[in-house]
Amino acid sequence: MKKINIGLIGFGNIGSGVIKILRNKKSFLTKKTGLNINIKKICDQDIISKRNVGVDKRLLTRDPKEILEDPQIDILVELIGGIHPAKEFISEALKNGKNVVTANKALLALHGQELFTEAIDKGKNIYFEASVGAGIPIIKSLREGLVANKFKSILGIVNGTSNYILSSMSKNGRTFNEALKEAKKKGFAEKNPALDIEGMDSAHKLILLTYLCFGRLVNMKDVFVEGISRISLADVDYAKELGFEIKLLAIAQKEGEDLEVRVHPTLIPKSHLLASVDGIFNAIYVESDLAGDLLFYGPGAGQLSAASAVVSDIVELTQDIKAGLFRPMMNIVRDKTVKRLRKIDESFSRYYIRFTALDKPGVLARISGILAKFCISIASVTQKEKNRTEFVPIVMLIHEAKEKDLRAALSMIDRLDAIKEKSVAIRMEEV
Ligand code: HSE
Repeated sequence: MKKINIGLIGFGNIGSGVIKILRNKKSFLTKKTGLNINIKKICDQDIISKRNVGVDKRLLTRDPKEILEDPQIDILVELIGGIHPAKEFISEALKNGKNVVTANKALLALHGQELFTEAIDKGKNIYFEASVGAGIPIIKSLREGLVANKFKSILGIVNGTSNYILSSMSKNGRTFNEALKEAKKKGFAEKNPALDIEGMDSAHKLILLTYLCFGRLVNMKDVFVEGISRISLADVDYAKELGFEIKLLAIAQKEGEDLEVRVHPTLIPKSHLLASVDGIFNAIYVESDLAGDLLFYGPGAGQLSAASAVVSDIVELTQDIKAGLFRPMMNIVRDKTVKRLRKIDESFSRYYIRFTALDKPGVLARISGILAKFCISIASVTQKEKNRTEFVPIVMLIHEAKEKDLRAALSMIDRLDAIKEKSVAIRMEEV
């Protein structure tokens, strides 16, 4: 039986999960693939700490060269995350004729073009199923299952940590900080949780999804990113009263000849499927021309779910290696109907707005007067007055407005003496 050798760099949480699956399911995978998938070497800076999977100590090394320069190793599995030295390891592996499996969304979002080009030049592949939605097979579905489709939009809840925080605020009345603390304790936040709550992790994943759907690897600077750190429990509650949930959405959407690529908190109607995606669950909603509207749903983080995706990539690569084939994974075709990327200033949306204003005659008239000046039409207004205090929250829903106009109106409103703090504006999605 042919043996395929794997070298793993990064024996952390997901890495241990991969080893666990390859070991515990060895005979199952052998029957499925007709191959002996062999773990030849495992590299990590820490080869002392106990993992929740036992390995032969002779497999362990601190020296990545033992993998990168071993001609018998067919596949590098990179699970250290971050940009450096992960980028150099992948480059070196490709140079040395290895295929690569990675879960490194940040690296591929920022340096994908260079690495994918290097891979194609070498006749090798970089697979990255675990980079978005952990075990949800969204990458494979987009590139294979939906190969004949063109896409109108992709909307995703792709960051488990943010979704956990927002759900915990909505369902259990936790404050933002309480919910973040819980999320960190559960262990699925990034090493730097700012990546989760400020929307960068979602943006990295969105760049990869956009690549697969629209054939453009957009630059990070072209993605509008706003996180959830300014969302208060009050906003979550007011949104709920109005029939909405707040979710951090990653959106790539065609608007005529433009493509909008953005990440931001969004009010979505409770009746929409995405509104009931709670906790660490992820969901990706795709509008396609042939298969229709599809929803991919499942745990978006976790050792075994992410490792399941890594193993699926390994198995797919082994089949090509066995057949002596090179099928470039990046059979990416640019959607020519997309002529440009639309800047956020030019985008249109409905909004939920919360003003904190003095409770006295004429204040609402001044606010609505400024909105009218920018041709912004109000859909509903409520003054939230739990106890009579000097300043009260005024919650407003507005009809579709241009982002640029809304920002200009808000900055004028926020300068009024009657306004106590910066107003909160959250987009609403007509899904
Ligand atoms: N920090 C990520 C999340 C892990 O919370 O979704 C999975 O990419």
